Amino acid sequence: MRLFIAIELPDDVKKVLARLRADIRGAHWVPVAQLHLTLSFLGEVDDVAAKSLTSELAQIQAPGFDLGFAGAGSFPNQRQPRVLWVGLRPEPLLANLAALVRSAVLSCHIPQEERPFAPHITLARIRQPIKQPITAFIDLCQRHELPSFSVRGFILFQSRLTPQGAIHTPLSSFSLNSVR
Ligand code: 2AM
Repeated sequence: MRLFIAIELPDDVKKVLARLRADIRGAHWVPVAQLHLTLSFLGEVDDVAAKSLTSELAQIQAPGFDLGFAGAGSFPNQRQPRVLWVGLRPEPLLANLAALVRSAVLSCHIPQEERPFAPHITLARIRQPIKQPITAFIDLCQRHELPSFSVRGFILFQSRLTPQGAIHTPLSSFSLNSVR
């Protein structure tokens, strides 16, 4: 099965993110209910590895934290946008959680990308090169105050690819420790 690990966003945050859908031709906006903060993408994993991953993730001990938004942009760059994203303010406890999740995944012999964790929320994907600049999106992001939110856990999701788009199903939820 195709798996990834992510932080779920509160509904009020998703609602505000839904207002950032600028008029950019060719942008496929992620359904609002599916917006998430990816910690780790695993790809295809067999049942045995998925089971051991679930028990490794359950052993993670890390404190909860609050997150705020900072910045918006596109991957891989602004001239050839493929992904439109909003960024998160640097939070050492988020980086700590991502590192613990990465170690848990690697300990199950599931490969992980080498590139550093760049916390972002993908709002849209652009499949074909576009000529239009994405300034309308960046401007819209600057005009909206994005609310901070609390992170109290993370989720192992299954992603099923269908002709209608990906379907994400939570398989297991993991709690972070309460903030002292
Ligand atoms: P991102 O949108 O936050 O970049 C589920 O597919 C999630 O896994 C996506 O939302 C995406 O996170 C992340 N992901 C990372 N690498 C991926 C890849 N090679 N293929 C699909 N998803 C990937």
